[in-house]
Amino acid sequence: MAEHAPEDERSWDALYEEKPRVWSGNPNPQLVAEAGSLQPGRALDLGCGEGADAVWLAERGWQVTAVDISAVALDRAARHAADRGLTDEITWVHQDLTVWTPPQEYDLISGQFFHLPQEQRDAVIRTAAAAVRPGGTLLLVGHHPDDAHAQSGHRPHLERLFRPEEMVDRLMPSADVWRVDVSEARRRPFAAEDGTEVALVDSVFRATRT
Ligand SMILES: C[S@@+](CC[C@H](N)C(=O)[O-])C[C@H]1O[C@@H](n2cnc3c(N)ncnc32)[C@H](O)[C@@H]1O
Repeated sequence: MAEHAPEDERSWDALYEEKPRVWSGNPNPQLVAEAGSLQPGRALDLGCGEGADAVWLAERGWQVTAVDISAVALDRAARHAADRGLTDEITWVHQDLTVWTPPQEYDLISGQFFHLPQEQRDAVIRTAAAAVRPGGTLLLVGHHPDDAHAQSGHRPHLERLFRPEEMVDRLMPSADVWRVDVSEARRRPFAAEDGTEVALVDSVFRATRT
């Protein structure tokens, strides 16, 4: 198994081709915690992987656009959604987030564990933030730099991790446009592949565009 998470399209495809399912198939817990009580509207999932978050959102009434650089992941995600009768509710987009611009505004933009180099990540988040409609939510979740375990086997390089408190200063120069609702390092239990339970640390940042 790779020591580090893949870093380009070809290696992401290769990771997804390695086995029929890479991630748990469950929605990310911080998405469930932070978006569960939001009024459904249009959502954008950045780096959607195998689509569990997009499916969870669509089942709750959201119209979802889900973007990923891996065609292998997207194909799997679309089949997963179709198996659940979700074909019209989710638009799957095969794009590199570092060059893609959202074509419309969204009520929720969620980015969960897409770990890009800092400069690229900041640019992607700035572009995404500009596409949150007034009153809408930006939710960013990633492995915290203090996370010693970070999904064993798919650990991103340390310099790709972020602290939630970095987001306001570095990514939102127009701070008056945003109300920060959550900015915290959050621990959660995770069952490692050898069956032991470890504590992961997630960076969780949620803000509302005023
Ligand atoms: C760690 S996985 C997380 C997948 C999903 N968000 C989840 O939490 O299960 C990161 C995902 O980001 C995608 N990704 C990485 N770089 C990307 C880029 N430049 N543009 C679009 N997607 C990218 C990968 O293909 C992968 O599916």
